[in-house]
Amino acid sequence: MIEKLQQHRDDFDSRIVGVSSLQELKQLRSDFLGKKGCISLMLNDMRSLPNAEKPQAGKHINEFKQSIESLIKAKTQDLEKKSDQSSVGGETFDTTLPGRGEPSGSLHPVTQVMEEIISIFFSLGFSVKEGPEIETDFYNFEALNIPKDHPARDMQDTFYVDDETVLRTHTSPVQIHVMEKQAPPLRIIAPGRVFRCDSDVSHTPMFHQIEGLMVDKNVSFGDLKGVMDIFLQEVFGKQTRLRFRPSFFPFTCPSAEVDIECVMCSGKGCRVCSATGWIEILGCGMVDPAVFKFVDYDSEKWTGFAFGLGIERIAMLKYGINDIRLLFENDLRFLKQF
Ligand code: PHE
Repeated sequence: MIEKLQQHRDDFDSRIVGVSSLQELKQLRSDFLGKKGCISLMLNDMRSLPNAEKPQAGKHINEFKQSIESLIKAKTQDLEKKSDQSSVGGETFDTTLPGRGEPSGSLHPVTQVMEEIISIFFSLGFSVKEGPEIETDFYNFEALNIPKDHPARDMQDTFYVDDETVLRTHTSPVQIHVMEKQAPPLRIIAPGRVFRCDSDVSHTPMFHQIEGLMVDKNVSFGDLKGVMDIFLQEVFGKQTRLRFRPSFFPFTCPSAEVDIECVMCSGKGCRVCSATGWIEILGCGMVDPAVFKFVDYDSEKWTGFAFGLGIERIAMLKYGINDIRLLFENDLRFLKQF
């Protein structure tokens, strides 16, 4: 009996070293501790022993059983721990470790300013519309009351795709697209990329604009002034003073350019404002009846205002950036500051 027990013990010891999966361990467990396992068989065999030997044999078998149980338990824990670790290319790593993660990044300053402006106009009841970046001559110029050969075309150095197709030079064509589809009253803004053949410290061939258009009954220049006031004071601070300067755009009449008091020197005069104390910020005006004619709006019944502004320009003033090209060089040392 003792000899047999020793044999089983040796057998168990050599088998457990070879076990490498929970599946194999389960098999080993049932071979030794199962209903038909060797422990049960030995306990059965005990019946044929003389009574005097029974207690001693029972004690040995029990000890063996307990030691098997604790060895199997330890091995189970060991294998479970290992199965939590994955293996890639022969290397194991601990999948229970917390991930390292990437730093969360941030939005581009142009996107930040664009989103801020959109949310200000959203609160004033304007909704966002978009238009194509490649436009026909008709939408970019004609329908905005800029006929072919009109000197106003010189204001915008245009990339021509062919005689009738251009990269839009401003977001104003979106006004036409929207009015063609929608009857008044309306209040929209149209953010997007625009293109001009121009490049220096304050110009890039691609930049962003936001167009605004409001058409309703009895909309006056006073409404335009009020909306510009709210908008620019929201962006640059409540103390910001505005100045409306007469200007010309073929699609608005009267037209104005809006200046804000220089944010760098508070109006005292510095390099940024060319010692004038004022900085030009956007173009605007009352929609010219000639434009309403192109979209079949009755200009006796409806009036409206429109405005257009460059987002980079606002971002530069807001963050004190002195070269517009920095915004498009994708230098992370620059972008990480915002
Ligand atoms: N589209 C004009 C520009 O890019 C700006 C503008 C928009 C002026 C709407 C008046 C009304 O210069």
